[in-house]
Amino acid sequence: MTDQLLIDHSDAVLTITMNRPEKKNALSREMYAGMAEAIRAAQDDSSLRAVIIQGSEECFTSGNDISDFVNVAPGGKGSPVYDFLKTICNADKPLIAAVNGPAVGIGTTMLLHCDMVYVADDAMLTMPFVNLGLCPEAASSFLLPRLIGHLRAAEMLLLGQAITGQRAADMGLANYAFGTGADVMDAARTAALRIAELPPGSVRLTKQLIKQGVRETACEIMDKEGEHFASLLQGPEAREALSAFLEKRKPTYPVA
Ligand code: COA
Repeated sequence: MTDQLLIDHSDAVLTITMNRPEKKNALSREMYAGMAEAIRAAQDDSSLRAVIIQGSEECFTSGNDISDFVNVAPGGKGSPVYDFLKTICNADKPLIAAVNGPAVGIGTTMLLHCDMVYVADDAMLTMPFVNLGLCPEAASSFLLPRLIGHLRAAEMLLLGQAITGQRAADMGLANYAFGTGADVMDAARTAALRIAELPPGSVRLTKQLIKQGVRETACEIMDKEGEHFASLLQGPEAREALSAFLEKRKPTYPVA
């Protein structure tokens, strides 16, 4: 298990903390693998009743590690990111997210698979896929419009428009927004502890019923998005956008 993740089992709750502060918790292949493994293990562990995914009080995650985007094609079937996304899509124990600071790319799309999402007022949620020459992933092209409506989803996905945690809560992308990072973490823990006291069979069945139909479609759409994403990642627009980020310069695109 990588030291870029902290895994805690206590009080019947599995807490996964992304812990790579020097890269704003950018997700490496090892982190995806570790998160997927921990969540899958929790499914079979009757002593665990809920899963919290969090970053620090300053930063949730800056999304996929951009160096990995450039150096290793991360999206194909069998890859750690694919495995992680399938795992959260199919998880049958409640997933709860605590989001502070930036939640970029998969940092926002993973929230669409969570059952409860708590955010800081000033968290910044953004999915700059088009800005990077890429396309939506994690079934966000299906789940996001379903959750917040086409027009708002189009602003976020087509323009890459960032929204605050407060706006995310207003739009139904998060349950509640709080003034401080500590309050966000507390809200997630309180919800997890409440779940831990409830009858587990009933919790499990209720989650299955809420996700009925949606989960299967989301998994299918995730596969289609993944094929486009992998192909775009090799294209000139994405190569330029990603290199520009790493070289700390503005991208320039050839005339289409
Ligand atoms: N992958 C790899 N490295 C990343 C990263 C990512 N997704 N996000 C940030 N980093 C690195 C930066 O390159 C920088 O590294 P350096 O100190 O070696 O120069 C370090 O993390 C700190 O990032 P910085 O941009 O200086 O922090 P910030 O507080 O000014 O901004 C973000 C934070 C998250 C808004 C900004 O880093 C960002 O936009 N990151 C890219 C997000 C992205 O496009 N992700 C992919 C989505 S599909």
